[in-house]
Amino acid sequence: MPFETISLAVSDRVATITVSRPDKLNALNDRVIAELGEAINDARANPDVGGVILTGAGRAFVAGADIAELEAHDGISAKQLAQRGQEVFRRFETSPKPTIAAVNGFALGGGCELAMCCHLRLASEFAKFGQPEVKLGLVPGYGGTQRLPRLVGKGRALQLLLTGEMIDAQEAYRIGLVNRVFPAAELIPAATAMLQTMMANGPLALAHCVEAVNSGYDLPLADALTLEATAFGLLAATEDKREGTRAFLEKRAATFTGR
Ligand code: COA
Repeated sequence: MPFETISLAVSDRVATITVSRPDKLNALNDRVIAELGEAINDARANPDVGGVILTGAGRAFVAGADIAELEAHDGISAKQLAQRGQEVFRRFETSPKPTIAAVNGFALGGGCELAMCCHLRLASEFAKFGQPEVKLGLVPGYGGTQRLPRLVGKGRALQLLLTGEMIDAQEAYRIGLVNRVFPAAELIPAATAMLQTMMANGPLALAHCVEAVNSGYDLPLADALTLEATAFGLLAATEDKREGTRAFLEKRAATFTGR
């Protein structure tokens, strides 16, 4: 389907997905969720793409689920809405190619949850984060009650979840919700440079790092370590590992092929 609420542009192996409903602060309606799902599928499948930047148009990253749409839902359809969104967000989290949220402004509710599904969060100095669902008589439905405590710890997560208050980029950095904060004009160049650094590494290695972290995180340590050893063994049998080790010994830059 042609995109109406987002854009997808590929340049120098970086796919930039921009949520683009600036008049509604990029709120997530059904159409945005569906288009985000398509865009991340496209980026994951496109061999010319090595990594993904997710950002928002205008003064918001994403100001949450579309409250106007939300109002019309009953219990069953709201559960389905949450599950559809969770499934799409999960595609960002499990992407074998690195995903970076370049948080340019408000990242509230579903916006904060979407950013948390990306592998890294880089923020503009003007970014604001929060999970204000309780102010609507709701809980987060796109993973906020689960990913926020995993990222910042249970006490800090509960503070944000129970107050519904917004925090600024510096506070988000202090509690570990974002990786780095940049002046607004430097945000996209910094995200691009970070992705270029990642994409210079072996693509199979990147994919297996993501898989080991995602799959191992909630396993008992012994099982997670077995998973890691298996990934290590698998990668040791690849062309990329041969090239990477040889390039080091020959004091030259490695050229990885993803085989
Ligand atoms: N869903 C639907 N529309 C939204 C929205 C959302 N989550 N967030 C903002 N909008 C719309 C506003 O209704 C407004 O539309 P209008 O011009 O047609 O009236 C427009 O975006 C601009 O928002 P506005 O509230 O006027 O901007 P502001 O600068 O005064 O406030 C926020 C910005 C982010 C603080 C405020 O919009 C807000 O609290 N949004 C809701 C955040 C939220 O609760 N998200 C979780 C949803 S589960």
